[in-house]
Amino acid sequence: MTDLALYLLHLVAGVVWTGGTLYNGLILYPSLARMPAAEAKAALKAVSVRASGSVGAAGLLVLISGPWRAWQSGAIGSVSDMFHGYGLVVLIAFLLAFFIPGIEGSLRARLRKLMDRPEDWAREAPAIARRIGIVVTLGFGAILVLMAMLGTGVY
Ligand code: HEM
Repeated sequence: MTDLALYLLHLVAGVVWTGGTLYNGLILYPSLARMPAAEAKAALKAVSVRASGSVGAAGLLVLISGPWRAWQSGAIGSVSDMFHGYGLVVLIAFLLAFFIPGIEGSLRARLRKLMDRPEDWAREAPAIARRIGIVVTLGFGAILVLMAMLGTGVY
């Protein structure tokens, strides 16, 4: 794949993944959390196939294109290169790109379970939705800072 094509693939996938995850965390889930449980469950069912399909696919493409770009850069020649400078920035970005969706996914699973218990939902859902928003904002914010470091050569 040409440099340009891989760059574009990484950029577009990164933008869709970041935008989709932040939309879910800052708009969709906090809004659902303020609905009655049954309505929130129906609304989530209506959007989840499209939302998880597009955001999930973008995430996967980032996790493939990121390491591929790192490899293509030639800056990582051995395992020890992963523990300083460019390699370390890439490693931290890669780990964040795994852990943040993992934490977000477990909070979303808790929300889905609560949808079958309306009283618990009304009491607990807003706080869990807020936590999702904080986790994805800090997590993806950190990844974007790391990308800016890679892009400007600050590492
Ligand atoms: C949230 C998702 C991400 C977004 C929005 C994103 C965005 C970007 C952008 C805009 C660049 C270009 C910087 C420039 O050259 O000016 C870039 C470069 C790069 N990204 Fe990401 N990225 C994301 C996640 C990741 C992850 C998880 C990895 C880890 C493996 C990664 C690895 C890289 C590498 C290796 C480069 C090339 C740096 C270079 O050699 O110039 N990215 N990314």
